Amino acid sequence: MKFIIAKDYEEMSRLAADVIASVMNEKPDCVLGLATGTTPIGLYQDLVKDYEEGKLDFSQVTSYNLDEYRGLDPKHPQSYRYFMQDNLFDHVNINPENTHVPDGANPDAEAACAAYEQAINEAGGVDVQLLGLGHNGHIGFNEPCDVFPKETHLVKLTESTIQANSRLFDSIDEVPREAYTMGVGTIMHAKKILVVANGAGKAQIVHDAFFGEVTPQVPASVLQFHPDVTVIVDAEAGSLCK
Ligand code: GLP
Repeated sequence: MKFIIAKDYEEMSRLAADVIASVMNEKPDCVLGLATGTTPIGLYQDLVKDYEEGKLDFSQVTSYNLDEYRGLDPKHPQSYRYFMQDNLFDHVNINPENTHVPDGANPDAEAACAAYEQAINEAGGVDVQLLGLGHNGHIGFNEPCDVFPKETHLVKLTESTIQANSRLFDSIDEVPREAYTMGVGTIMHAKKILVVANGAGKAQIVHDAFFGEVTPQVPASVLQFHPDVTVIVDAEAGSLCK
């Protein structure tokens, strides 16, 4: 595992964007695994800037997002599809048909999840998977549990995640209670994994996930077993890791 403490959010974002850019430059038709949340917004801005400066070409890229709220229309401003359009896809030359987010509007969980898992496999798997970190160690929406979930599946969000994500909704009642997410197994199959985290609020979980015991109670801890992981945090999030 490569563990990098950047001096601030800007440096974390730039270094992380460079990891993705180098995969894209090496393999123009790569498959990107993408994440939402506030953490990767700066990194997406840097990728857009690189594209505008002619340094990056998304024309052959395919993308698969980690997760999506169940029951939210893709046009809902808090849907992860909307987030991706707004923060990346609408600003670069990615072919819209090559961008994939689990279909939160499909009420048939089994069909939606199986189709997503199959599509990732048929695309040849993910070349680089970007991950943020939930305060409880969740990756995608894989919440703390007794057994690492293998494939894309339906999850019931924990109260702490509903609470944390309510800041982005008008009221906590509007936060969906369920989501579709890649499994921990799906994530672990990515050839390369890139984790970003920032802010003092993530310091404890960054320490526990990458320097603590590997346990499904801290889903991100399983990444310690992946052969190619880069973790990039800002100084605050890295403050308990010396
Ligand atoms: C959400 C997403 C995760 C994300 C996490 C952290 O629950 N499902 O993919 O990593 O929140 O978000 P933030 O980056 O805003 O702290």
